[in-house]
Amino acid sequence: MTDNIFSEIQKELDLGVSEKKHPFKLAVLGTVGLDQMARLRTIVVRKISKDLRVTFYTDKRSKKVTHIKENNKVSMLFYHPEKSIQLKIEGIATLINDAAILKQYWTAVGERSKKDYTTTKAPGTEITNSEGIEYLNETHHFCMIIVEPKKIEYLKLNPDTHTRIRYSNENGKWHGEFLVP
Ligand SMILES: Cc1cc2nc3c(=O)[nH]c(=O)nc-3n(C[C@H](O)[C@H](O)[C@H](O)COP(=O)(O)O)c2cc1C
Repeated sequence: MTDNIFSEIQKELDLGVSEKKHPFKLAVLGTVGLDQMARLRTIVVRKISKDLRVTFYTDKRSKKVTHIKENNKVSMLFYHPEKSIQLKIEGIATLINDAAILKQYWTAVGERSKKDYTTTKAPGTEITNSEGIEYLNETHHFCMIIVEPKKIEYLKLNPDTHTRIRYSNENGKWHGEFLVP
């Protein structure tokens, strides 16, 4: 039973990448700030590997990167409103710094989206207004982060009985246990 639901989780996460309007295209990423405050933000899920590693893109000057360098334990939250499914993923984040890999993915980033990684000033820098933002021409600050999931918690709200399952990864194998919702 938990295996069937795990297959459903994999399917929905894959659909999040391939379908434009799928709610799992977006996730809330939680990191631990340098002051130990929980910090949340929305990210776009770019890739889900067969073993459920989640890839997203960011600016390597962003706060989340600073947080991850200090503490690579992160959480991700997904919510599917039509299916009433919430997924919480806890895992280890890795920054991809390999120039060849970054170049390959950077080439595929659309021209409009490239602007997200080429502001002259770092993301989060105070400015007087949004009009005068300047962009770099030759260089960029694009990087990729891969989250390797260690725990996945599934919650499905049903009119009668809710279903909550905690999946843990033990030596590469996922094992699910039902929990009181
Ligand atoms: C719909 C949506 C999608 C976003 N996708 C990304 C993303 O894929 N990568 C990213 O770095 N920021 C993304 N952002 C911006 C982040 O939520 C956040 O504001 C920004 O990255 C700065 O976060 P930080 O200062 O905590 O690092 C997105 C925001 C929204 C509203």
